[in-house]
Amino acid sequence: MKRYTRRVFLRSSVMGLALATLPADGGWKSEVVSHGLSAKSLNLNTDWLFGGEYVPGSTDLDFNDKEFERVTLPHCVAHLSWRNWDPKSWEKRWIYRRHFNLPDKLGNIRFFLRFEGVMTGASVYINGQLIGRHLGGYLPFKAEITQLVSSGHNVVAVIDDARWGLDVPPDRPGPSTSSESVAPEISHLQQMQMQSSKIYRRAYLPETPYPSSSVDFWQPGGIYREAYLEAVPPIFIADVFAKPVDVLDSNRRRVEVECTIDASVVPRDPVQVQVELYGHGMRSSISRTASIRRRGRNRVMLTITGLEDVNLWDIEDPKLYELRVTLRYRGKYLHSYHTRIGFREARFTKEGFFLNGRRLKLFGLNRHQFYPYAGGAMPARVQRKDAEILKKELNCNMVRCSHYPQSPHFLDACDELGLMVWEEAPGWGYLGDQKWLGRALRDIKQMIIRDRNRPSVIIWGVRLNETPNDSSFYSKAQAVAKALDDSRQTTGAMIGSLYATKDFQQDVFSYNDYHKNGNWPTLNPPRADYPYMVSEAVGSLSGPYHYYRRTDPAEVQSAQATAHAIVHDIAASDERYCGLLAWSGFDYESGTGYVYEEVKWNGVVDLFRVPKLGAAFYISQVDPRVRPVIEPGFYWDFGPNSPAQGPGENALIWSNCDRLELFVGEEHYASVEPDSDSFPHLRYPPFRVDLRVDGASKPDLRIDGYLQGRRVISRRFSSDASRDRFLLTVDDAEIRADGSDATRAAFRVVDAYGAPRPFAGGEVFLSLKGPGDLVGQSPFPLGDNGGVGAVWIRSQQGKPGAIHIRAEHSDLGNATAMVRSVSGRRA
Ligand code: GAL
Repeated sequence: MKRYTRRVFLRSSVMGLALATLPADGGWKSEVVSHGLSAKSLNLNTDWLFGGEYVPGSTDLDFNDKEFERVTLPHCVAHLSWRNWDPKSWEKRWIYRRHFNLPDKLGNIRFFLRFEGVMTGASVYINGQLIGRHLGGYLPFKAEITQLVSSGHNVVAVIDDARWGLDVPPDRPGPSTSSESVAPEISHLQQMQMQSSKIYRRAYLPETPYPSSSVDFWQPGGIYREAYLEAVPPIFIADVFAKPVDVLDSNRRRVEVECTIDASVVPRDPVQVQVELYGHGMRSSISRTASIRRRGRNRVMLTITGLEDVNLWDIEDPKLYELRVTLRYRGKYLHSYHTRIGFREARFTKEGFFLNGRRLKLFGLNRHQFYPYAGGAMPARVQRKDAEILKKELNCNMVRCSHYPQSPHFLDACDELGLMVWEEAPGWGYLGDQKWLGRALRDIKQMIIRDRNRPSVIIWGVRLNETPNDSSFYSKAQAVAKALDDSRQTTGAMIGSLYATKDFQQDVFSYNDYHKNGNWPTLNPPRADYPYMVSEAVGSLSGPYHYYRRTDPAEVQSAQATAHAIVHDIAASDERYCGLLAWSGFDYESGTGYVYEEVKWNGVVDLFRVPKLGAAFYISQVDPRVRPVIEPGFYWDFGPNSPAQGPGENALIWSNCDRLELFVGEEHYASVEPDSDSFPHLRYPPFRVDLRVDGASKPDLRIDGYLQGRRVISRRFSSDASRDRFLLTVDDAEIRADGSDATRAAFRVVDAYGAPRPFAGGEVFLSLKGPGDLVGQSPFPLGDNGGVGAVWIRSQQGKPGAIHIRAEHSDLGNATAMVRSVSGRRA
């Protein structure tokens, strides 16, 4: 890292003349990235120039970048399909450039460049000068560039090092940093042994080099999250931690606010700090003066009391409050910082989990952040959609961000929707050398600083997923977490024989439980000596099958829902389980273990964010007064790939009703009640019915759902494929014309009533008219994903207008949809 010290004159109408020395470290500040608004924050997401593979000289100020491609952030370096990702397509070094102009009079403004996430390493240059190198793809970093920019034209150049093995979590030592040679492949057998040993100790594998498939998820490169240029005064608020304390006691309830003020000068007089908390008809504020005694960071503490009337943040009603900190000097405004908080108490105990003093079973799934075609590079709207799917469609109350800090946009949605979060520092089955461990501690610190104001985050994953014991390192990790946030408990996912370990430094013992009982998953009992939670189950490892693709027989697809219901039923059976987060929410791209076409098909929702049969269990677990549900665990289909006997003897229907009436071909067929014998602890057990029927006449199926004698829902299914339709739906009617906003256009073959037709084939040809770009593949081979697919429609910067999407199916005609791209902030 390059360091420099410069003496500069800082002139300010507020400060008067001051001679100051800037902090010696002009490189990346590892700890100061937050979501507060700066005095002025220039969005640096548009107008990047992407030059492909890095060539020497391309970071120079006057490098000729005329041939570079104009791109918008978030951006992925590789052209990806929805499957068969090839790490060779991104594991290189890449060059990005961004020109920007600054006004004539810069005064004493300080400039910071902030990146929310670059995979996996970034060397950043300003006007040809290296300002720092950051390693690690999942957390933000920023650097002060005040001394390197000037009025008029400036250029940022970023070398994105997307090679594998950069000695930073979750990577392992690979060949890329030492040479360009290709890693020797680890044999399939070795991989299987790794999987079954479940603890990937360094000793189990050749020391070095590891291939990138030694981590379970592909990590395509790119500046795949947003970037900002922040302009702030010489003294500004760098960070605010607003910690609600004693939230359940209305008299003692308070918010302890820790403000970090960064000063490049030492002012003669004290500054004034004001904290305002407001929302839902409430406003409270407090001010104090504080002396800034040194250049660099200064801490100012304030406490807001008198909060008798605040509403709690809860999963049903996640009330958020705005918090603004304003900094003044001699009565004049200098800077302000804004964040959101919520009042809630989340407590993991040996007797279970309690939210706001109320026992609550944690019910959820793990999420990976990657998308077809784009890697991690999807904008806010698309990131937020995953949280909506988990909360509103799958009825989860919690998600585990496996195995790294995820997009702030996803977490914003979790705060707003009442979806609780386990946030986890990057890591997967491996602890590296001292440097690597140091970076892991830095990540834990950055993660907590980034997200500690979020009420949705109820626990920190500071023990890295499935790593071996290391009491010295994990004691440090625990201390780092507690020093930054003593209001949350910590955890880490253990595996295999570590179930019994005594060498555990975190607060909550979590276990990736892949035990089997015959063909079906089962769970170890909760450990009695710690609060206990199941952090993974089912996946590809303990369910009846390894893959759950829409191209697999319906019986396989349906078994996924059953397997998930079994483990949640066990978790519900004993209060000492705080809850269970199953593996996994979404299919994801991977090169290790049970993959097919480089995809792990163990999501209950597919890559395209379309629920599979496996999701039926989750969809049904909602109060019927909110949403009555009937979700068959089968397809009503007698086509060539479906059993001639129909759904069979043990067909399951996932529903929250108390009675179902079935009609086949309009004839009453059966009256069924929930199978609470098989699933005694589920709130809404499925219904089991013998559905061996002769489908020769292609009868309809009708299912009516009753609650206390009243019919509350009726669904129909057609087995007559000649009436099938091709359906195209878009998630949003409007997107923003900023060149990065996007929405999904999903297509599938459905029966006459809109229910999925399985195994539908054909090709889908997609075209767009208007100011939008297709993020996706055309033609799309529909049969390869069992009759379902999606693309995303991205706006073009500064070009509002109607985007018409046309999807033409090779046999079933075409479908159209329209998305309006609008300027400004409306969409
Ligand atoms: C777990 C691991 C997950 C995933 C899963 C595969 O052991 O923690 O990241 O690899 O296995 O089903």
